[in-house]
Parts: sequence; C-alpha cells; structure tokens
Amino acid sequence: MVLTLNPSMKKLVDSDTGTVSREIFWSKELYDQEMEQVFNRSWLFVGHVSQIPNPGDFVLSRMGEEGVIVSLDRQGKVCVSLNSCRHRGNRVCRYDEGNSFAHVCSFHGWTYDPSGALVALPFNEHGYDEMDMGKWGLKQARVELFHGSIWATWDKTAPSFHEYLGGADMYLASGLLHTDGSDNGSAVLGGVVKWRLGCNWKVPCPDTDTTHGWITHRSMALALGVGPTGNPVKPEIDRSQSVGQRRSRYTVSFPEGHTMGVTIPEMDDPSWAASGVWDDKPIIREYLREKFELRKEKLGLAAHLSVGPAIFPNEGWLGRVVRVMHPAGPAMTEIWTYFFVDQDAPTEVKDALASYYEHWYGPGGMTQQDDMENWYALTMASKGPVAQRLDLNYQMRISEPPIHGPSEFGLPGLFAHNYSDENHRRFYQRWAEVMQAKDWGEMAPTGSAALKPGATLFQGSGK
Ligand code: FES
Ligand SMILES: [Fe+2]
Repeated sequence: MVLTLNPSMKKLVDSDTGTVSREIFWSKELYDQEMEQVFNRSWLFVGHVSQIPNPGDFVLSRMGEEGVIVSLDRQGKVCVSLNSCRHRGNRVCRYDEGNSFAHVCSFHGWTYDPSGALVALPFNEHGYDEMDMGKWGLKQARVELFHGSIWATWDKTAPSFHEYLGGADMYLASGLLHTDGSDNGSAVLGGVVKWRLGCNWKVPCPDTDTTHGWITHRSMALALGVGPTGNPVKPEIDRSQSVGQRRSRYTVSFPEGHTMGVTIPEMDDPSWAASGVWDDKPIIREYLREKFELRKEKLGLAAHLSVGPAIFPNEGWLGRVVRVMHPAGPAMTEIWTYFFVDQDAPTEVKDALASYYEHWYGPGGMTQQDDMENWYALTMASKGPVAQRLDLNYQMRISEPPIHGPSEFGLPGLFAHNYSDENHRRFYQRWAEVMQAKDWGEMAPTGSAALKPGATLFQGSGK
C-alpha cells in the first residue's frame, strides 16, 4: 500500500518499507481530504449515555471539525444532530450541556426539539406558508450504542458499528464494563476535560507504542516514583524483568485500523493490585479487589485482560480514560478526555479516582505533560522544508509478520511483539486506504482478524 499526494505524486505512506512522510502532519490539502474521506465516513465516538440520562438532556460533542448536539429525545432515543441552524447556519446550541426540549437559535429563533426536528418558526403564519418544516430539521447522524458508549457517522452506506469494529468489540467492551464485569455500570465522571495542543490529530493516534514509556515517562516512573495517589511508590526498576516472567504483553492490531496493547497476566491479580500503587488508599484497594473477584466469576479469563484499545480514527483508551483527538487544523488538535468510573462506587473511591485522573491524564497531568511536550516538539521540528523531505521511521520489527490471535487465549486480532511498530504501520495503512477509497466497497480491509463466531471469550456486541 502506497499513498501518494497529487500532483507531486510524493510517496506519503509506504507500509512495505515502514516509512511515512512528514507532510501528513502539515499539509492543508491532505487535512481537507481527511475531513471528507476519514471523518465524514468513519464511526466516531461522541459520548456516553451516562451524560444524558433523562429525556431532554444534551451534551455538545464533535465529529471531525463539526459540532454536534447529542441528546435524548422524549422516547428515550439518543439523537446526534449537526449543531448548525438550517436557516442561515448559526450555531444553534451554545451550552456545553443541559436539559431542554427546545433549542432556540439565537439569530432568528428557529427552534428544534431534541431529535433535531424543526418545531417552531417565528413569523411562520405569514412568512413560510409553503415550507415543509419536516424537511428543515437539523442534519441527523446515524447513531449506534455500544455498552453505553455513543458512536455516530454521517455515512448512510457505512457498515454497522459492530462490523466496523471488525472483531475488536470485546476489547472495546472491556473498558466500558463495570469493574465487577457487569454491563451498563460505567459513567463519565464529571465533565469532559478539553484542551488544545499544537500538533496534527494523528500524532497522538494511536498512543499504543510501548517503547516511549521507558524514555518519555522515565523521570516519573523511576526518579520520582510517584503513584496514582500522588505519593511515592516502589520504583519499578524490576519491571522489565517481571514483564517476561509474569505476563505476556502484545501489540494487537486489526485491518480496520484499530490498535491496542493487550496484557495477558499469568497471575491472579490485575497489575494495579499487585503493584501496590493503591496501598496508601486501602478503601480503593479493597474496593477494586472485591469487584475484581466478581469480575473473574463473570468473565473468567477475560477478566484478567488489560487492554487499551484505540478505535480508528481518533478514539483511544488509557485504562478507563478515553481520549478523543478532534482535528482543529493541520497542526492543531482539540483533546477531549472522558474519565470513567463505576456509577455506584462509593464517593471516596470516585474522589480518589478523580484526583488520580487529573494528576495523570489531565492537561496538567504528569504523564500527559510528558507526552504533549514531545507531540508539540516533533510537530515544530517537522515543519521546515528540509525536515519535510525526511521520512519518519516505523520499521521496528517490520520483518516479523504479526500472527493471528494466539489460539490458546481465544483472542481476536493480529498479535505482534510488545516492542514493535506494527500498530502504527497498521494504522497508517488503514488511513491511506480510507484516504483514497471512493466508497466502502473499496475500503474493505485486507484480511480479517476476527475470530470465528462463538470463539470469543465473552460476547462483546450489544448495548
Ligand atoms: S440562523 Fe438560525 S434562525 Fe436564522
Ligand atoms: Fe505516554
């Protein structure tokens, strides 16, 4: 697969040699093509049902550069409407969240209900006699729910979201379940944390490269020894040895462009319990331990999986934190972060997790700052004409083809070594396919990483 940029026909992505042109992070022409080819056709994460529990509730979200209203209508249906008035194009809803059955445009007062239908028009009696109001509602996206998460696409011809996941459903589901393994028990904690960073949206997508952790986050993990509670924990100097002994970690990808790290522990406790990071907060430690026992009863082997799935194109998980990289120009990204907790967790647990999330994954968080510094610096160091002529290297373990999911685990996906660029190669190959495909027929991914029906450890599909 080679993607070229017309008219220069410069090679942009070469998955055979494992190289990528820096132009894909700066070119306005490519960026505009992405808005059409990638963001207008893909399934995109727009929120979670816990944000809109009651009829009339709404939150604003984004699909690509465009704003949408995610709302629950009177019948309890989740609707995603383009936040752009059908009269003269004004932004209809200006509140980040709220409850309303009438979204009144601030320009001339056209009024829409939560399903986007145009329900009131000032001066209608004399001004719009012939107009069919049914044709002038807010543009509606196709919507699908997946274990409480809300996904939307503008493309009527796109496959179902389940098909779009291509076998990655069980990994995505694992992040959305309650800690005890039950369904529909997760909720977004507080509001969505949003900030802007000067880099292309693809720079942090996918954030599943494990090699950077040892360098980028070294000071925090080793020198400071700071744990999730803010207090020092035992430096993880021995971790490199223990990885091989007690767990198997892989990079896992799908031809559909989804990528992740998957850890298969060979021990009874998940890594958070064994590492002692919550030892100075016994209430958290005991809560997680107790719920994990229930999770094991429900999910069996799958309870042990530690997964951070990144769903193509711009959604990714770090534990129970979801980050969405919204494009805001060729070299600007709006990062939206959702922190998930068990809806029924005790307040102390929620408070401690809120503090942990902020300290680690908020815009001032320790790991987040480390990453952002590099993402911004690489963007600026790739801007000039000399740098632009030098391709980027994604060649790590390119000669080792990924294997299909190890049958002994019964897991879907293409498994590669933990330290490998396979996930990035897969992501860019998919990006290149989508960028040049005319329709979904041409976009059919090469090969399948899905398991045969019935072979999964637990059913991942459904609401
Ligand atoms: S632009 Fe919305 S009512 Fe005129
Ligand atoms: Fe990182």
